[in-house]
Parts: sequence; structure tokens; C-alpha cells
Amino acid sequence: MPRAADINRMFGGIVERYDLLNRLLSLGRDSYWRRELTRALQVDEPRQALDLCCGTGDVALSLLKSLPGLERLVAADFVLPMCAAAAGKLRARYPEPGVSSLACADALRLPFGTETFDIVSVAFGVRNFENLERGLAEIARVLKADGRVGILEFAPPEGRLLRLVYRPYLRLFPPLLGKLLAGAEGAYGYLSASIQSFLRPSSMLAALEKAGFHDPHARKLTLGVTYLYTASR
Ligand SMILES: C[S@@+](CC[C@H](N)C(=O)[O-])C[C@H]1O[C@@H](n2cnc3c(N)ncnc32)[C@H](O)[C@@H]1O
Repeated sequence: MPRAADINRMFGGIVERYDLLNRLLSLGRDSYWRRELTRALQVDEPRQALDLCCGTGDVALSLLKSLPGLERLVAADFVLPMCAAAAGKLRARYPEPGVSSLACADALRLPFGTETFDIVSVAFGVRNFENLERGLAEIARVLKADGRVGILEFAPPEGRLLRLVYRPYLRLFPPLLGKLLAGAEGAYGYLSASIQSFLRPSSMLAALEKAGFHDPHARKLTLGVTYLYTASR
């Protein structure tokens, strides 16, 4: 598991070029992945939402757009410049004081009461948790009894096609583009390494169950480059 202090420093150093590199490295698929995450949480008219590991705020924006009945949306990240970037985007799109707010908070020690939220989303965040078990338990704690979690995460390349094409892609392109466009070869080298060493979908489902979630489900997106996990509290 990565060390939280290293993760914090690393993400703090790539905020400016983060969105551009997301679009380029995912070949434009990242917006679709986030939309699918939002769609999966459009059940039972949620009122209170938490977007954890919000980064520059794209999932929060997508939730606000597709869930007009939300009364409160908290976007949280433990990297201050990420929170500032997300706040800027949310303000630009929704200049009137509205339902959204930012929290600079560690996912492993959330500053929210037990059973606060109807939905929690986490896009590409759990792979970076220093302690995945604890992070999932915190999500379960802040969700209401019938609440729902949606997690987007990369999975290690499996199957012939992904092993042949995607594995070499991962080794080469993230560190190269990270170096050229963001001066951050290390951060994007970490991206490649952490994808390849992260849990397989079956182990993620087991981890969700262990954290107390019901009916965990994994949906393969883009040939299994990314998985969308959903579960009920
Ligand atoms: C790969 S980015 C994903 C950002 C955003 N969700 C997206 O879809 O683009 C991972 C984010 O998780 C945040 N993060 C990682 N570990 C965290 C933790 N323990 N608590 C809060 N945020 C964390 C990082 O600061 C970073 O902004």
C-alpha cells in the first residue's frame, strides 16, 4: 500500500496538468467512466452525497448535473490544491451559492457523522489508500443504512488482448507523457505501477463484503481497463 504522505505530495504536484493528462492517457474514455459512475448512483433520489477523492471535481460536477434533487453535495480530497481546483470549477459552473461544498479531508478519517450520506462516489481514489480496509469501512460508516457506494477503479490487465496491448502501453505512455507535459515522471510511473499491482475485481468485491457492504457488483468498462463497483450499505 502507498504511504499517505507520498500520495499527498504527489497529487499536490500534478494539479495543473491533471485533467489534460486524464483525457490523453484514457484516450478520452475518462468522461464516459465518470458518467457511468453517476448513472449507477441515480437510484432512490439521493439527497445527501459525498464525492470522495474528488480531485479537480469532475465527478462532483457530473453528480450535480444528473441529480438535480440533491440537497447537499460534499466534494472531499486530502490535497489542498486539488480542493482549490475543484472549488474553482464548481464556482465557474454554479456561481450562485448552491448545494455543493468542499472538504479537505482524509478518506481514512472522515470528518462526518455516522450515517450521513445517501450516496458516496470514489473515482480512482481507493487504489491510493494507505489502508484500503479502513477506507472502505469509513465509507460504510458515513453511508446511511440503505445508502449506496459507487467506486471507479483501474484493474490489473487481464486477458490476452489487454496483456499484449495495454501492459506495454502502461509501462511506456504514462511516465513519458507525465514527464513531457507535467514534469512528473515519478507520479505517472506510480500510476502505471499501482494499476498493475492493485486488486483484481474478485478481490475488490471480497474487500467490499468484508467492509460490510451488501450485494457488491463489478461492471467491466472499456474491456476491463476500468471497473465500476457498486454496493449497498
Ligand atoms: C487519481 S485522482 C482521482 C480524482 C478524481 N476523483 C477523478 O476522477 O479525476 C485520486 C485523488 O484521490 C485523492 N486521495 C488519495 N488518497 C486520499 C485520501 N486518503 N484521502 C482523501 N483523498 C485522497 C488524491 O489527492 C487525488 O486527488
